[in-house]
Amino acid sequence: LKNDFFSKKITNWYLQNKRDLPWRNTQNPYYIWLSEIILQQTRVAQGMPYYYKFVEAFPTVQDLANADENEVLRLWQGLGYYSRARNLHKTAKMVVEDYNGVFPEKYSELLKLKGIGTYTAAAIASFAFGEKVAVLDGNVYRVLSRVFGETTDISGKDAKKVFTQLAESVLPASDSATHNQAIMEFGAMHCTPASPDCMFCTLAMECVANATGQVSLLPIKTKK
Ligand code: ADE
Repeated sequence: LKNDFFSKKITNWYLQNKRDLPWRNTQNPYYIWLSEIILQQTRVAQGMPYYYKFVEAFPTVQDLANADENEVLRLWQGLGYYSRARNLHKTAKMVVEDYNGVFPEKYSELLKLKGIGTYTAAAIASFAFGEKVAVLDGNVYRVLSRVFGETTDISGKDAKKVFTQLAESVLPASDSATHNQAIMEFGAMHCTPASPDCMFCTLAMECVANATGQVSLLPIKTKK
């Protein structure tokens, strides 16, 4: 594996620094899906109470599918982007009707569900089922761009392909779940957009951006 320092160091960092978040203590695809939808446009601290409310009100995907839409929207109140709640409900019904209430296990099958895009499909396939797929979100773009000095514009049309390839090239053979959680947590807590803690970084020696003074310039993003 090329650049195998990356997964080792970032995973070690994660095991010592991670927050204890409830959706990280489960391999239930329904709970993982729920957490990822809630966290799409919402910070962890704000999303956490909603995660607990939904798990309590709808312990299974069947419970969510059978719920009244108004009840789902009522529980969602305060989170904003209400289309997320409507799509959540629709997708739950689809899982029950088309998949017997059992989430598909493969990334390629998960992608067929309406409202599940590449990020969410990869998160479920990796965290719940251990599939060797790379999760790509804003944190992952930033960390990979800095560590490997990848200057492709993340708002451009090539970004997804370039960064998917880079993310796949550093995936370890086993335990993609911990590796994926680790990059996201490292980006959220340590390699942050405006004030990364490069002085105390486990990747300081390997980081291309750190070596070339480009940390504050990466990732490159020309369009909003
Ligand atoms: N934001 C989105 N997904 C997350 C996860 N699995 N853990 C922490 N923050 C997240």
